[in-house]
Amino acid sequence: MLDMRPSEAGLIAFHDHAPEEESFLEATLEGLSRPDKAIPCRFLYDERGSALFDQICELEEYYPTRTETGILKACAPEIARRIGPAAQLIELGSGSSVKVRVLLEAFDHPAAYVAVDVSRAHLLRAARRLAADFPDLEVAAICADYAAAFPLPELGGGGRRLAFFPGSTIGNLEPEAALAFLKLWARRLGPGAAMLVGVDLRKDPGVLHAAYDDSLGVTAAFSLNLLARANRELGADFDLGGFRHEARYDQGKGRIEIHLRSLKDQGVRLGRRSFAFGRGERMHLEHSYKYEIGQFQDLARAAGFRPDAVFTDPAGLFSVHYLTTS
Ligand code: AVJ
Repeated sequence: MLDMRPSEAGLIAFHDHAPEEESFLEATLEGLSRPDKAIPCRFLYDERGSALFDQICELEEYYPTRTETGILKACAPEIARRIGPAAQLIELGSGSSVKVRVLLEAFDHPAAYVAVDVSRAHLLRAARRLAADFPDLEVAAICADYAAAFPLPELGGGGRRLAFFPGSTIGNLEPEAALAFLKLWARRLGPGAAMLVGVDLRKDPGVLHAAYDDSLGVTAAFSLNLLARANRELGADFDLGGFRHEARYDQGKGRIEIHLRSLKDQGVRLGRRSFAFGRGERMHLEHSYKYEIGQFQDLARAAGFRPDAVFTDPAGLFSVHYLTTS
């Protein structure tokens, strides 16, 4: 772990828990050795992957980003009223930190902002830009997996803590893991705090399929970049033309399932090992769970939060839940 004083890091304090290096090789070897091959979706976000994800967020078919931003613009004054002055805002999986600006602009003299993300360069760039735009704000960047129990830095300001988990990233977690994650944060935040969680809603499968398999192929490029990353960083020899991105919605489970399907019988080398893919064989990359409003409130309650308020868009595509700790 590496810590930098604000002066060295630019305008911000930086805490590096180097999450990727230790595990991409291990996770890929383990995932390719399984009968049902899989690579965890957190490895999608290297430099290139994070840039592709930002492009996904701009797509016409990918409704979550703009819908959530719209909801936040509408409910920010209400959130500001509830959280009060000198708030400490902790954003999990901060990415390019666009949505948090809407909150910071509405809040009454926010005291501190902590950005947490696995993508180091992306994180630092976004946090520095934000620090420059909000000169009175204490800004810290933590390079860590949002789901890990990284230490929280000491923050100034006597206001309430608000953990912000936008983008329906919680949908990437299996429901049991989502429960454990919310429990962890209910405990970490302590009494008198709040958590704002963006949660994608169940809806017409056609809308979902278009959102996760867009016509420009950006989402396909995002999935295939994981193979390119394995080639770049691990010296693997994936043939990117030999795999196809697939997104299907399981209506019973309420989740989008993303796979890469092998288009031929092929072998892939990784270090001294070789892995066989049969024609038509799928490798799992990602689940994206969708919730009904009441379903998510039950989950939050089971985790020890009070579901205080929920905000949605007029079309009912997306929800933003304001949860409190007692
Ligand atoms: C990271 C959870 C916001 O599931 O919508 C988007 C990831 N993957 N398109 C989602 C994703 C393919 C995304 N989140």
